[in-house]
Amino acid sequence: MKAFILSTDKDLMASMQRICEANKPSVAIIPSVPSMQAEGGLNALNSPDLILLDANSYAGKAIGMLENLAQRYPKAVLMLLSSDRSPETLIAAMRLGVREVVPLPAAQGDLEAALSRITEKFDRTEKDEGKIIAFISCKGGSGTTFIAANLAYALSTLGRKRVLLIDLNQQFGDVALYVSDLKTSVALSEVCSSVERLDGNLLETSALHVTPNLSILAASDQIESSAEIRPDQFGIFLQIARQHYDFTVMDLGRQINPVNVRALDASDRVYPVFQQSLPYLRNGRRLFDIFSALGYRREKIQIVLNRYDSSFSLDAAEFERVLGQPVVHRIPNSHEIVNESINQGLPVLKMARSSVISKCLVEWVNTLVDVGTPATTSLIRRIFVRNFASNEFSK
Ligand SMILES: Nc1ncnc2c1ncn2[C@@H]1O[C@H](COP(=O)(O)OP(=O)(O)O)[C@@H](O)[C@H]1O
Ligand SMILES: [Mg+2]
Repeated sequence: MKAFILSTDKDLMASMQRICEANKPSVAIIPSVPSMQAEGGLNALNSPDLILLDANSYAGKAIGMLENLAQRYPKAVLMLLSSDRSPETLIAAMRLGVREVVPLPAAQGDLEAALSRITEKFDRTEKDEGKIIAFISCKGGSGTTFIAANLAYALSTLGRKRVLLIDLNQQFGDVALYVSDLKTSVALSEVCSSVERLDGNLLETSALHVTPNLSILAASDQIESSAEIRPDQFGIFLQIARQHYDFTVMDLGRQINPVNVRALDASDRVYPVFQQSLPYLRNGRRLFDIFSALGYRREKIQIVLNRYDSSFSLDAAEFERVLGQPVVHRIPNSHEIVNESINQGLPVLKMARSSVISKCLVEWVNTLVDVGTPATTSLIRRIFVRNFASNEFSK
């Protein structure tokens, strides 16, 4: 890992240099700061993995400098050292993706701890940038919550990914109950309202743990107190979530509101969920108009047909014609299994591993985690070969 330090404070520079050398793994300091104005980008060998900026050396200019640095070195981890602990500065820093803010004057131990947190995560961050995916319903009862919850569980078990599942249904949020018998205790609105203190640890302690790899946060825990989530705070919350989870999966319900627009903006992939009937298609058309008004790339949106039945007259081709995009996922109609899963609060993969719905989930997970690697094949084998004998639920 290579770092450069931006500071005019000679003592701080020297102590950071010592800490970087002593850290395990050690961090090399790039001696001269490359010119920010240089055209054509830097030689890759010279671009830093980590940038430490001492805000006190550049009074009033630090946030602007961070902005430039974040743009110029999008892959670099940013660390800010500053005696300014105002919420405005912290929020501005987080918005720019600063990983660590160390208050100045800093004890040597604090600097060491912050650096080792960064180097520990460095490998993982390089390989696995967290992804954000959103499910949105084209009409009530489409199966959005069922699919979001079950895909999140599948990613966390089959894909072995760390997953945060977020229920953005302001009232009557029930996503946790689709895959567990637990009730959320801390509301997302509460977590967002103190976003300036939020880090990975606080996020983990606020969430509900369904399994060690699957955590859930719901918009609100009580019907009567659906406290407001501020869109700007939610945007920052998502940046932090992305840094700490491999996948952040959101159930947006069927609302288009400022918070959901933030969620959609931040998403790498959006899954609108349809069923094969005209009202879904009509609402879907309107939703797609909103997506294009929001300027989303077509590849970001992937159509899901739930309760799919190829014999229905309103077939996938009609959806593709009206919406102008391919239907990417088809989840079969499987009344018995879906209802049993929901009623018991058990994910389908756990309850009926060899069912057709589980098979669809496995394929879906494969589209989201490194497709084509040998692990993908073994993923399918792990589930199906082992469970082929007990396929009484298969339909
Ligand atoms: N693939 C499916 N096959 C059969 N029934 C389904 C399927 N998906 C969902 N359902 C049924 O639809 C109901 C509504 O699902 P839900 O996920 O709560 O919808 P939404 O969140 O879009 O309102 C569920 O209670 C379940 O009975
Ligand atoms: Mg729902």
